[in-house]
Amino acid sequence: MNTKLSPIQRGEFFYPECFAAFLRGDANGQKHKTQHVIEELVRALRSEAVVFGDEGQTVDVLDVGCGPGLYSQKFLASIGKAFSGKINYHGVDILPEFVSAAVEVVKSSPNVASAKTKTGNAFEGDELVEGRVALAQASHMVYHAADGSRSEEETDQKVDNFVRAIMDSVANDGIAIFFHGGEDSDMHGKVAKKFGPLMSNAPNRIDISAKKGNKEIVELSVSSKLYFPDLPAATYEKLKDIENYKNFQPDSDELRWLKLLTFVLHCDLKALSANGKLGECIEFTKELLAQNRDRDGGFLMVRGSMQIIMNDPALKPKIDRAVAEVASKMTEIDRRTEAEMAREAQVLRKA
Ligand SMILES: C[S@@+](CC[C@H](N)C(=O)[O-])C[C@H]1O[C@@H](n2cnc3c(N)ncnc32)[C@H](O)[C@@H]1O
Repeated sequence: MNTKLSPIQRGEFFYPECFAAFLRGDANGQKHKTQHVIEELVRALRSEAVVFGDEGQTVDVLDVGCGPGLYSQKFLASIGKAFSGKINYHGVDILPEFVSAAVEVVKSSPNVASAKTKTGNAFEGDELVEGRVALAQASHMVYHAADGSRSEEETDQKVDNFVRAIMDSVANDGIAIFFHGGEDSDMHGKVAKKFGPLMSNAPNRIDISAKKGNKEIVELSVSSKLYFPDLPAATYEKLKDIENYKNFQPDSDELRWLKLLTFVLHCDLKALSANGKLGECIEFTKELLAQNRDRDGGFLMVRGSMQIIMNDPALKPKIDRAVAEVASKMTEIDRRTEAEMAREAQVLRKA
């Protein structure tokens, strides 16, 4: 195939491009919704006097798998809406270029008193932070524990190391928030489980590792819609042959559909084609999108679990009440998320 073509036109998974398509805020409610959930959770934790207290307090926050800091910045802003104190931010990622980008992004956040980042491998039990923090979070990163693993046991061991390293970084009166998609998600448990290498059961694995360490867990379900562009019926047939991809325009709906699918799978579509599975995968996804339709189009339901894990079991009743309070606000959070997606769609239409 022509090497001048973009990776997706060659049927390849190019992470940054596919991740950008996935994050587009008019088509994906995940980041909008997470921010509202975090804001409400911080408010509810404050009313239980867990982690967040009075003005003038500074809270140490550890962000594991911080990436280049874009989600971290939003996470910190969400905390700032419900808590007027400051944050000492500690970010860790395996990629040095991400940790140097993240510190620059985060230190300009208005509620950040100090920002430090470092490289570390959370799956090998590396020390994540000096001392202990009040709040740790790991968002959408444990999936990588399966990367390069030769067996399920090796993946399990990495998840055990990961949960232990995070909980060893959390103070006795602190908590850790893990947020990942799982088996009941159309993305993880249906499309990726059937056709791709993306880990399909991250919350179950975290749950098992936490219980091995005798930790209490409280779960909050957080689901969001991921809309794919609607395509003419004949186009879906074209998607089944990689050779057609070079004929799609770079910013076409066809290529955006393929970038979303590639991100959902986390693999090259040409590998799927070589295994004779591409046609089946396109058909399976198309049918799911036809089943999940609302006035804005066809979507995959991305179901995730926020797992709050604590070292001190005595905190559990307070966390239970805080999580129940957030769950009672989910309908209102969904309404706000939809309004934000519609606003982003309007901005993109004008651009
Ligand atoms: C999908 S991104 C999530 C970024 C951000 N937390 C979010 O929710 O948008 C996963 C991140 O985990 C990092 N990562 C992967 N393996 C890691 C490891 N073993 N230790 C630390 N970070 C890792 C990646 O470099 C990447 O930045």
